[in-house]
Amino acid sequence: MRLAKYRSLVACLAIAMLFAAASEAQGEDGHRLWRRYDQLPAQALTRYRIQVSEIVVLGKSATLDVLRAELVDACSGLLGSPVPSADEVNRDGAVVAGTPLSSPLIKSLHWEAQLAALGPEGFYIHSVRLSTHRAIVIAANSELGALYGAFHFLRLMQTLQPIDKLDVSQKPRLQLRMLDHWDNLDGSVERGYAGRSLWNWSALPEAIDPRLRDYARANASIGINGSLLNNVNANAQILTADYLRKVAAIADVFRPYGVRIFLSARFSAPMELGGLMTADPLDPEVGTWWKNKADEIYKAVPDFGGFVVKANSEGQPGPRTYNRSHVDGANMLAAALAPHNGVVVWRAFVYDVKPDYDRAGAAYENLQPFDGKFAANVLLQVKNGPIDFQPREPFHPLFGAMPKTQLMPEFQITQEYLGFSNHLIFLASMWREVFDADTYAKGPGSTVAKVVDGSLYSQHLTGIAGVANTGSDRNWTGHHFLQANWYAFGRLAWNPDLTSRQVAEEWIKMTFTHDPKATAMIARIMLESHEALVDYMTPLGLHHIMWGGHHYGPAPWWDTEPRADWNPVYYHRADEKGLGFDRTATGSNTLSQYQPPVRDHFANLTTCPEAFLLWFHHVPWDYRMRSGRILWDELALHYQRGVDWVTATRKEWDALAGVIDPERHAEVAKKLAIQERDAIWWRDAVLLYFQSFSKRPLPEGVEKPAHTLEEYKAKSLAW
Ligand code: GCU
Repeated sequence: MRLAKYRSLVACLAIAMLFAAASEAQGEDGHRLWRRYDQLPAQALTRYRIQVSEIVVLGKSATLDVLRAELVDACSGLLGSPVPSADEVNRDGAVVAGTPLSSPLIKSLHWEAQLAALGPEGFYIHSVRLSTHRAIVIAANSELGALYGAFHFLRLMQTLQPIDKLDVSQKPRLQLRMLDHWDNLDGSVERGYAGRSLWNWSALPEAIDPRLRDYARANASIGINGSLLNNVNANAQILTADYLRKVAAIADVFRPYGVRIFLSARFSAPMELGGLMTADPLDPEVGTWWKNKADEIYKAVPDFGGFVVKANSEGQPGPRTYNRSHVDGANMLAAALAPHNGVVVWRAFVYDVKPDYDRAGAAYENLQPFDGKFAANVLLQVKNGPIDFQPREPFHPLFGAMPKTQLMPEFQITQEYLGFSNHLIFLASMWREVFDADTYAKGPGSTVAKVVDGSLYSQHLTGIAGVANTGSDRNWTGHHFLQANWYAFGRLAWNPDLTSRQVAEEWIKMTFTHDPKATAMIARIMLESHEALVDYMTPLGLHHIMWGGHHYGPAPWWDTEPRADWNPVYYHRADEKGLGFDRTATGSNTLSQYQPPVRDHFANLTTCPEAFLLWFHHVPWDYRMRSGRILWDELALHYQRGVDWVTATRKEWDALAGVIDPERHAEVAKKLAIQERDAIWWRDAVLLYFQSFSKRPLPEGVEKPAHTLEEYKAKSLAW
């Protein structure tokens, strides 16, 4: 009997330990992203426990329920003791959230003036006295605004900020803040490096994966309010009734979190699905087909956001097939969506197959002539740079050249050209460069941020898109650190003026640690990471010198793609004289697409930033750089510097063992080892190849390659 009791006790203990281990493992597998509501450090607890004692979210709706649950769960977790939900303010420390409509408490405050300035998504957080009690009120015009406010409030606690005397007013600077998923209907993800698609089409609409909710919640926590579900290289099937039922089921999950759905529309769908003989945008039957399709979509998804269209680009059908223009195509779709307040996001990623031309100028040539011609519900989506999501590009000339068009930047969060999900790169620094770039479109100070937030030209509709880096991997992004790029995208879409440092520090504290030394070290690593990657991949303005097709690893020698402009040799133009693409008046002259002050700045060798030297100029190998070294030596030292950074970062990361939980620490360490291997591979392969033109020795301080150029050329990876 006693033995049996002892055995059952041991069994219970074992089960309990197993559970503890499992929940710990689950807790530290990265799935919770930056929404980790573990107990805060002791010094913060004492004050927060006095300031937060109960949650008062009155009213009933899907969003209000989400809001209440989030505040209760988060506060209970962060404070390490239950924080109850209440129907009235009972004590000091109440957190009251909602709208004047949902909450008589908020209505009684008469904050009409404060709320009027906040628009549909903003929020106002204020410390007040409600009857005799101290309270924090999170108020907004909409329930979604209140949810955004709640996430802001929680972020303050997660990052250990003071929450007494709160007085915060915020609203998003850009209206449409969307993630673009390049997901195919078969579950694969174009340029996805974190597993399969999050949408399980075959199980929908009946089976709803709980991850859909987690995804929507994560997006709401950083203000993302749109999600493009399918690849821009679109399959028309997504527009069939069967798929629309599945889309509607996803929309139902996303709705309480304010994430609206967008679909990529295949331009030839009227032929493929509707049996029409043409997809000519000026053919009335085609227009009617799209109108009917839009009506059908809005019946299934009443808050549908609109269509994203890749037309006449990389083999996709479009209006040009029928000798019509991009405007004809975009405006025809816009007319179908307008009665429902939907928008068309028309992509400017268009380039032709022409001999002897500069691909960097193609989007401008194709789209700029249509400035002022697009309908009011069209946004023109422009990639950050003129080529294609390279490690570093100058800003796209269209940002300074279409004052009468609603422009919307497209960033790539997934790292197609930046080491997939193997390389630790914090992209906020790169995006900051784009936002801060001065187009001079309306004189000095006409930054890209001001163009796209609508302030420069009083643009009515604004937006931004990021190509998602999420997938079915347990940690969402394949590398724990790359969650920071999803986070940063949302934060910068909300406020393009945030500094990279602020975003990095917030994310570290919410995701990894509150330890000040560790936070400072990790922030420094993140903030240096982009420059380091540029150093070991494409320094001094080099671009597109990676392997064809999969775009991973160096292949500057590559010249076998069917199109010249898919080959690295087209971009670097190395010869015995020098290196780089001449885009000045003596070359392709696409520099002329920039406003004169920008053009002159880049065109002049003495003012052109060295970061863009080889982007705009063909420069002799012995050209004297600002350091006094010749180009060849400088180039080689950049590659070495990039490698050195990764080597040093690995050591620094190792030193953080004990501060970071073991599971994530080990996984990041493994990725850093791959990153170091790749950085060395880049340095050696690229330098050996360019050395065959420069015919100069590697300068002192640059390590000798371990293999021959032929060996690097032969290296084939099973990607
Ligand atoms: C890049 C990428 C493609 C993608 C395209 C686009 O070229 O390699 O996979 O389809 O961009 O943005 O449309």
